[in-house]
Amino acid sequence: MDVISPDGISLRSNEPMRPLIIDTDPGVDDAFAIALAALNPDVELLAVTTVYGNVPLPATTRNARRVLALCEREDVPVAVGAERPLVYPHPERARYAHGADGLSGRSGVLPEPTRSVHQHGAVQLMAELLRAADQPITIAPVGPLTNIALLLGAYPELTPKIDRIVIMGGGMHGGNTTAAAEFNIWSDPEAARRVLVEERVPCVLVPVDLTLRCAVDAAWLDKLRDSGPIGAALHALTPDYREYYRKALGHDGMVLHDAVAVAEAITPGILRHTPYPLDVECAFGPARGATVADQRRKEVREATPGEDQREVNIALDTDPDALRAFLLAGLTG
Ligand code: BDR
Ligand code: CA
Repeated sequence: MDVISPDGISLRSNEPMRPLIIDTDPGVDDAFAIALAALNPDVELLAVTTVYGNVPLPATTRNARRVLALCEREDVPVAVGAERPLVYPHPERARYAHGADGLSGRSGVLPEPTRSVHQHGAVQLMAELLRAADQPITIAPVGPLTNIALLLGAYPELTPKIDRIVIMGGGMHGGNTTAAAEFNIWSDPEAARRVLVEERVPCVLVPVDLTLRCAVDAAWLDKLRDSGPIGAALHALTPDYREYYRKALGHDGMVLHDAVAVAEAITPGILRHTPYPLDVECAFGPARGATVADQRRKEVREATPGEDQREVNIALDTDPDALRAFLLAGLTG
């Protein structure tokens, strides 16, 4: 598969396989994201770790295992992570978008997993994989950041073993769950602040501003359905989610937030990102969970008082058609 970046650069190289851990709360778009990585022969998918989020933890874990079974990738271990945020209770699941079981009520179309969950929990397994790695590992969190905050807090000595953390989350101009906040950040703002503001590990944040621009349409979904058994099964998971986005977007489109972030995790450069100082609002009130990026010009920022804040790479641009083509090719082989 030839892959060309928005700048016309070939993204398929002769480099060794890219080691990756996906931390996830499936969720329909999570299911697509897991499949995208699991089916890519250039990705060494080391583990899928689960977290509460779109639906409660037992359901996200079951869904992750079923998606790997669909992709005939039960060799990939699934480890169970946090069932609630670091400090405050999770305000609400996202069943309104992903359906009662997280997969539009259709998780039964996926095969029953045959492999049990890993004997160790998500944070411990991530630490073991990092410690054993001879090449830095990319982590792609596409749910609440609770597991990642715990990992960075408990095992600071392992952060040099992390290549990048490519996070689906945040919104530069408002949110999708509240007026200010995007779902993953809003679910556990304290964890998000730990990962994005307090730590020094390289991060790419893929906010809703960009994922919304990469929405797929009915023709894209038809091609997926007609591509073969895996595409047909993924397509079968979409009715509730698609209906939610029909209302949210005002037309028949569907937003694959997490797959857009995983595309960047497995193919660095497919999204264009810019470093900005970033903070996460943790106060209670209408802005809780907002991601506040300082997008003023550097000259202006430097001339005004403020702390020396860490910069986070924020993905704000791509070629949406090329990205959609990349996703379709990756999911249909
Ligand atoms: C994010 O929230 C969840 O509902 C999706 O799975 C995605 O990770 C989008 O805001
Ligand atoms: Ca998700």
